[in-house]
Amino acid sequence: MSGIEMIPSAKRLIRSLRDMGYDFSQAVADVVDNSIEARATTVAIDIEFDGDDSWVRIADNGRGMKPEQLREAMRYGADRKYDVDDLGKFGLGLKTASMSQCECLSVASRWNDSRADISAYSWDLNHIERTNRWEILPLDRNGMGPAIREPLKETTGTVVLWQRLDRLLGYKHPYGESSRKRLSQMCREVEVHLGMVFHRFLSGQVSRRKLKLLLNGNPIKPWDPFCRSEQKTQELQRVVLPIEAEGVRGEVVIEPFVLPHQDDFSSPEAFRQASGPANWNQQQGFYIYRADRMIQSGGWSNLRAPDEHTKLARIAVSFVPAQDEAFKINVAKMRVQMPAQIRDAVREAVGPVTKLARETYDRKKKSAPAPAPTPAPAPNHPTPPSTQHSSGTPNGTVPSHTQDPGRESPPATVRLSLEEWKERMLAAATDVERPVVEGVLGRLQQAPVK
Ligand SMILES: Nc1ncnc2c1ncn2[C@@H]1O[C@H](COP(=O)(O)OP(=O)(O)OP(=O)(O)O)[C@@H](O)[C@H]1O
Ligand SMILES: [Mg+2]
Repeated sequence: MSGIEMIPSAKRLIRSLRDMGYDFSQAVADVVDNSIEARATTVAIDIEFDGDDSWVRIADNGRGMKPEQLREAMRYGADRKYDVDDLGKFGLGLKTASMSQCECLSVASRWNDSRADISAYSWDLNHIERTNRWEILPLDRNGMGPAIREPLKETTGTVVLWQRLDRLLGYKHPYGESSRKRLSQMCREVEVHLGMVFHRFLSGQVSRRKLKLLLNGNPIKPWDPFCRSEQKTQELQRVVLPIEAEGVRGEVVIEPFVLPHQDDFSSPEAFRQASGPANWNQQQGFYIYRADRMIQSGGWSNLRAPDEHTKLARIAVSFVPAQDEAFKINVAKMRVQMPAQIRDAVREAVGPVTKLARETYDRKKKSAPAPAPTPAPAPNHPTPPSTQHSSGTPNGTVPSHTQDPGRESPPATVRLSLEEWKERMLAAATDVERPVVEGVLGRLQQAPVK
């Protein structure tokens, strides 16, 4: 039976898709994802304020696209296959992210290193409104202004240009001071957001994908939520959880950190920097990465509530796109869910981390070692800090017995009297745990020794 093709109304759907919920920084990040995937080593973001003629340009030096590839890329729901470490998924980001911020999106690309041929197309809302057709407009040489051509003079790559920034400026007074202020506020937000979500790429942590991001010519610095360059940051043992979704097996890697007490940061400025865009309390919890790109920045994914006393706990959770089904990633790649099948294991892994975070916050001594014989930790459970970091060597580790020169390490096994135990237990207990610990120890003291 032959079906009846129902082509969506272009003007209705393209308008609706503008409201997928991107803010400016998230939209820029979605375009940068594509540049990373195209193996760019530098992505330059330029934001030009000029009233009605203001524009935003994201230019990369990646491998670029041939004209037919570029045409496909412009299609809503672009068709292609993805590699395991690719950041793309839906074939939508370039269009939906861009059109959420502007009325005219132009994309130009050069793929041939030895020839400066550039092809370019636009999605223009005025044209869509007029024709109600899914039509892109080819740009000839005259149609490509210097803003498009200039970045591709010496290199292959792709230029994404946003014009008529109705969503950014508000069209009543695009030349006014408030529009200018708004745009410069956006610049600051973009800088913070990109430095955060791409920090693994910016710091060279991702092999063969070291990235340089420039904002109006200035390099964006990576923001490491785990403050690994701080000497007193405590890194707990990583946990690897197996996961299976829709028949695809994989693993989720959990790397817990406890940040230093405020007084133990190298400087008050370093403590302020560590706070993060949403500030200490909201930045505690999980940092979820998909293919090394941060999707979630803090929050406990409904496993617990934010708490001033646990604000020093930050935990990296990393997965690969093959596990997208389990994490239920959304199109704008702004949201994920902690998969139901690993929630209990994650909750268990979090326990020792929040405990240590609370002790660090309260500046208590580390809890005493368990009495002999000490059971070996289960492979999936974080153990107390195995490393602290020396400044200047972000990934350098030191053996635990050299952790703190001011504090003597306890011997591996110690015999303690019940009184000594009581003292240690009470020092390590939280306010909530204390009455329970006291009750149990009281009963133990009264019980006859058998
Ligand atoms: N800067 C770029 N350099 C090279 N190719 C690009 C670039 N930007 C986009 N493309 C190509 O265009 C395609 C469509 O991009 P788009 O962002 O719309 O979707 P996607 O990245 O495949 O998936 P998602 O919707 O998850 O972002 C990409 O898959 C890629 O092949
Ligand atoms: Mg994309």
